[in-house]
Amino acid sequence: MNNPFEKLKFWITFVLIKFVRKLRTERPKSPVVREPKNLLSKEIKIPTFISLIFTVIAIYCMFVTGLAVNYKTMLGAVILIATSAAFFILYARSKEKMMLKDNDAVVLMCLLFIIAVLMFQISREYISAFVSPVSAFALMSAMLLSPRFGILYAVSLSSFVAFLNFMRFDIFIVMLCGSVVAVAGAQSIRSRADFINTGIKTAAVHAIIITMFYFFGSYNVTEFKHNLFYGALNGAFVSIIILVFMPLFEKLFSRTTNIKLLELSDFNNPLLKRLILEAPGTYHHSVMAADIAEQAANVINDNSLLARVGAYYHDIGKLKNPQYFIENQVSDNNPHDGLSPTMSNLILVSHVKDGVTLAKQYNVDSEIINIIGQHHGTTSIHTFYHRALEESPNIDIENFRYPGPKPATKVAAIVMIADSSEAACRCIEEPTATRIKDTVEKIINNKFIDGQFSDCPITLKDLEAIRSSIISTIIGIYHIRIEYKE
Ligand SMILES: [Fe+2]
Ligand SMILES: [Fe+2]
Repeated sequence: MNNPFEKLKFWITFVLIKFVRKLRTERPKSPVVREPKNLLSKEIKIPTFISLIFTVIAIYCMFVTGLAVNYKTMLGAVILIATSAAFFILYARSKEKMMLKDNDAVVLMCLLFIIAVLMFQISREYISAFVSPVSAFALMSAMLLSPRFGILYAVSLSSFVAFLNFMRFDIFIVMLCGSVVAVAGAQSIRSRADFINTGIKTAAVHAIIITMFYFFGSYNVTEFKHNLFYGALNGAFVSIIILVFMPLFEKLFSRTTNIKLLELSDFNNPLLKRLILEAPGTYHHSVMAADIAEQAANVINDNSLLARVGAYYHDIGKLKNPQYFIENQVSDNNPHDGLSPTMSNLILVSHVKDGVTLAKQYNVDSEIINIIGQHHGTTSIHTFYHRALEESPNIDIENFRYPGPKPATKVAAIVMIADSSEAACRCIEEPTATRIKDTVEKIINNKFIDGQFSDCPITLKDLEAIRSSIISTIIGIYHIRIEYKE
């Protein structure tokens, strides 16, 4: 060991042994999976009560700084803000319970209030109270939260603007009428260009109400011209604010508006394009199911556009193994022939999970992802279950069920029924009216008995309306030869 080379050899061997031992004891690391998420799509959870308290304080501060600070005004502001907040919370608890549980919705609700009051202050201070964009915020709340909230925002924000202008009744009525008209048109907005129409409508309503107050003697000629000009200018201001803020709020708070749905329904969308090219049979089935689902959602006054787009995307998980699904098999070679029933079942079941994963990768909205995940509920795949029974009589049907969850909304239930009905009616050799009617009735009854609608608020009346709508749509699609009995 006295030899320096011996010493060096000893130390090298010692270090190598240590290093190899370390490598052997270290656990193998799983591969790093990077999700294609950007900064905007990260979830930030803020407790509801913190959002509400912060909003009330922010609005109060803006009120107090905007008005002369005396104890009467401050108390008035406290009563107005407290009444509005209490009214909102009570209303949301009785009519929109789900909204209060949705963190994104609560933060958005509060943010809409804060930005609105800030803009009212700026408008009042530097231009005129008549350019306060109440309609813009009422319309955005109607589209991003719910139409009922739109009306609540219209009333609250109009009273805020009136309060900030020393309780002027004319301003309250002008703002209220303009915003109610804007909210009333929220459901028919189909493109971003429609926001210009909202601005024009708002401007027209403001002009009419201001003229009415002039005739009642509330303004002299100079005031009338001034108010008329700014009331009409409000329309342009409203259009600009919606065009700027809507896309931002849609992205930041994952809200699915009609506009977003129409963008998703575009067949130039990369995911739908892939469906057309890689799984044409599934694409055709999805388009048929979309027609059926849209009509059915219409008859129960639910979101027909969401039903259509949900049906377009419901089977995108089949893109992973398109040839294993009957609608994409062009030759007589069935790839399931060489597989065990359990294996075939696994491939079929996995299209739901694959669909959800694919939709997340392509940044499809959460409402569509929910429909994809729920479109088979916990139904069973009878074909492969019966094949498996022939091989082993003790096989459990629970192993041949989709993992769920069951549909949680009426639209998801409609997509489920439309999907099964389209697939089943496509297999009828001679699709007569009677056969289509029997098939659809059987599908709905079986799903109902199987408890597939137990998690969604669908009623028997809805199911009856959906049944007759689906039957008539499918009869229309297949141009059937109706059996006439003497
Ligand atoms: Fe499916
Ligand atoms: Fe399907």
